[in-house]
Amino acid sequence: MSRIYSCGILGLGSSLPEKVLTNFDLEKMVDTTNEWIMKRTGISERRILEKDVPAHELGVDAANKALKDAGISAEDLDLIIVATETPDYLTPSTSCLIQSRINAKKAAAFDLNAACSGFIYGLTVADQFIKSGYYKYVLLIGCEGLSKITDWEDRNTCVLFGDAAGAAVLGRVEDGYGIMSTYIGADGDLGKNITAPCCYLSCEDIEVRTRDNKRVLWMDGGEVFKFAVKVMEHGTNKVLEQSNLTLEDLKLIVPHQANIRILDGAAKRLGVSKDKIFINLHKYGNISSASIPVGLNEAYEGKMFTKGDNLVLVGFGGGLTWGSALVRWSK
Ligand SMILES: CC(C)(COP(=O)(O)OP(=O)(O)OC[C@H]1O[C@@H](n2cnc3c(N)ncnc32)[C@H](O)[C@@H]1OP(=O)(O)O)[C@@H](O)C(=O)NCCC(=O)NCCS
Repeated sequence: MSRIYSCGILGLGSSLPEKVLTNFDLEKMVDTTNEWIMKRTGISERRILEKDVPAHELGVDAANKALKDAGISAEDLDLIIVATETPDYLTPSTSCLIQSRINAKKAAAFDLNAACSGFIYGLTVADQFIKSGYYKYVLLIGCEGLSKITDWEDRNTCVLFGDAAGAAVLGRVEDGYGIMSTYIGADGDLGKNITAPCCYLSCEDIEVRTRDNKRVLWMDGGEVFKFAVKVMEHGTNKVLEQSNLTLEDLKLIVPHQANIRILDGAAKRLGVSKDKIFINLHKYGNISSASIPVGLNEAYEGKMFTKGDNLVLVGFGGGLTWGSALVRWSK
């Protein structure tokens, strides 16, 4: 599709539950230690929704903040895309729940599931609508309540995840700025390495993918680890190449935050110093599709980049999927 308009990020917002679950809390729940979790993952604590609070509450809050930052009203929105692997309902979609709550009467709304790569998938979709001129304003939210599908008896997974939402308002920006390139991919052959059953359970799934009849998230961490380091490098290089840029042109990489050792491994393979990589996973753990927008928002609020700076957003996740984007900051 030819590019008529340039698409960029006009506003950002994020939302985290107040409740903090520390490694020391987890020591009382499963056979683990703060030392093991810190050393093997880099995570110190995570935020968890109260049982009776749905994840889309975080999405509503993040959306309102992003709209305020963009200086537009919800009524201006043409489309809401929610990237999520933990929708509160199969129907209505989380995007429709949020559309109603923020009063975005004119906006179409749908959810998209590419697990932790969801925000980059959503960015790629939103970019098509805006650059073609079909829509003027798209709200993209990564919204997750992973605590609701976590197996709190499985020490292999329960120490890793948290709840959060991050939102971005996308719209037209000056030519030469905004989303310069995106790249998304999937390898369904590796899908069994992270699963969270929904409407169907095979006999083999019942053995390992449920706990007390509750469908839970299950993962082969080692397999995902190897895949993650590889695609972080590949995704970063791919969007640099597509934008005719090199690592030297980059101000910051904002990666999906899953494990500090994955980030270290990717930095090493890319040959970039660690200060070029944004890190906040010690505070929130793996928050799936919310990870990149929450990280980007923190870096933005911390003034870690300015207009004209080149940023790479890069992630990987269930599916297995991956995605990256080169964004030249336009504000
Ligand atoms: C999950 C992960 C942290 C596990 O770390 P690891 O170093 O690979 O650890 P292993 O799975 O090899 O387990 C090593 C040992 O630690 C144990 N262990 C696992 N979790 C533990 C915990 N929370 N506390 C203490 N011990 C733990 C294992 O049982 C195993 O014990 P064993 O040797 O007696 O069998 C790591 O593989 C990872 O981060 N993978 C990527 C996950 C990811 O990114 N997922 C999301 C994709 S979006």
